Amino acid sequence: MRIAMIGAGYVGLVSGACFAEFGVDVAVVDVDPDKIEGLKAGRMPIYEPGLDNLVAENVRDGRLTFTTDLVAAVKGADAVFLAVGTPTRRGDGHADLSYVYAAAEQVARAAEGPLVLVTKSTVPVGTGREVQAIVRRARPDAPISVASNPEFLREGNAIGDFMRPDRVVIGVDDDHATTVLKRLYRPLYLIETPVLAVSLESAELIKYAANAFLAVKITFINEIADLCEKVGADVHDVARGMGLDGRIGRKFLHPGPGYGGSCFPKDTLALARTAQDAGSPIRLVETTIAVNDARKVQMAERILAALGPDPKGRRVGVLGVTFKPETDDMRDAPSLVILPALVAAGVDVRAYDPQPGHARQALPAAVDFAGTALAAAEGADAVVVLTEWNEFRALSPDRLKAAMKGDVVLDLRNVWDPAAMRAAGITYSSIGRP
Ligand code: NAD
Ligand code: UDX
Repeated sequence: MRIAMIGAGYVGLVSGACFAEFGVDVAVVDVDPDKIEGLKAGRMPIYEPGLDNLVAENVRDGRLTFTTDLVAAVKGADAVFLAVGTPTRRGDGHADLSYVYAAAEQVARAAEGPLVLVTKSTVPVGTGREVQAIVRRARPDAPISVASNPEFLREGNAIGDFMRPDRVVIGVDDDHATTVLKRLYRPLYLIETPVLAVSLESAELIKYAANAFLAVKITFINEIADLCEKVGADVHDVARGMGLDGRIGRKFLHPGPGYGGSCFPKDTLALARTAQDAGSPIRLVETTIAVNDARKVQMAERILAALGPDPKGRRVGVLGVTFKPETDDMRDAPSLVILPALVAAGVDVRAYDPQPGHARQALPAAVDFAGTALAAAEGADAVVVLTEWNEFRALSPDRLKAAMKGDVVLDLRNVWDPAAMRAAGITYSSIGRP
């Protein structure tokens, strides 16, 4: 089988490389010539564990190619996947569908034989029908089936999530699309992955409902953590006791500085807008968005309060600025709210992240970058953990304390053992633990 993957971002690149690993011939297309030239030379535009090797092996075996030529890639393809961005539209919070619609039209014009046009981007319910209309307008004669195949991979674990997903969702209108998509995902049948074939509308909504539910779950445990701090309970014990109930489940009950990333913030907002427009507002999601936004501001206030009455000129070492570990993605990272607030209060911020590639341009110029965690802590009045990279867990409390000038550590990801930190003479506070 042959496919074209439109968009060489996190989703297009990972999905394209994984389909190639399944034995499919894949052409990954992007409008950005630098990205494509870099990929041809073996340079990954993003940090994702295992991706460079997976790409290299499949390029070597001739199943994976990169191009800016959409027309050539679409020619002879059984299916074309749209994996372009759907960022928040400026002004109203809806998803910006301009990239999806433009790419759909380009594909329709380029199509020769029958093909399945599959939206992998996260798109609001109704987008598939609009894509059908665009295709019909551009090429009334072309035998193009429109399908939806939302992607559930997480950054940092993207290859594992794609290769061993909990489920595959396909939104389809016709048997041809179902047959092609099921053939593409055939290797997953061997590991008994459920494949749900549903309507276009249901597939589109499953993606938003799943993301919003996880965002609600995180926000819930964050608020329970706040309560734990007030009443002397330990949020990890509470989360474990809740999560062992199979109806609740243990995952996504880890408290922190608020969820971020390229999906939850924009997808919760877009779902809330869709629901309002449909006259069926989801107040739980609206509240989650507001609580999560406020949380990031509260985290900055908490750090400033820990610095004493006059934070101006005091130094804070920040460990981790990406929105989660094992990625270099800065989109909607809590650090983007917290660090500017510290800088605005006159704090001298020195940050360290194992993958600082996109961080420097995303954060205020006043943020200084250190080459190691201990160098960020050197001479600091306080150290703050914003992202739970594994290497922070391995830091010795004694060495951390020895590097610092002050003794305040705010661990917003609960990576350290409170007793060990206190034994090293550190004034330690974390989220939801006594
Ligand atoms: P991204 O911004 O990293 O990549 C999108 C790419 O598409 C860019 O490289 C851009 O140059 C390219 N592009 C745009 N228009 C094009 C066109 N007409 N032709 C060729 N290339 C074009 O985006 P992403 O993070 O990969 O997300 C893509 C979609 O997948 C979004 O809808 C997102 O919500 C969804 N999604 C993302 C994740 C994630 O973890 N990042 C997970 C699941 C779903
Ligand atoms: C998310 C979804 O999990 C994935 O299915 C979807 O395809 C894309 O969006 P991603 O954003 O890559 O994936 O990472 P995820 O692990 O879900 O974390 C998102 C945010 O929630 C991060 O800021 C993370 O720190 C936070 N989080 C996650 C918590 O604060 N606590 C948790 O228990 C889990």
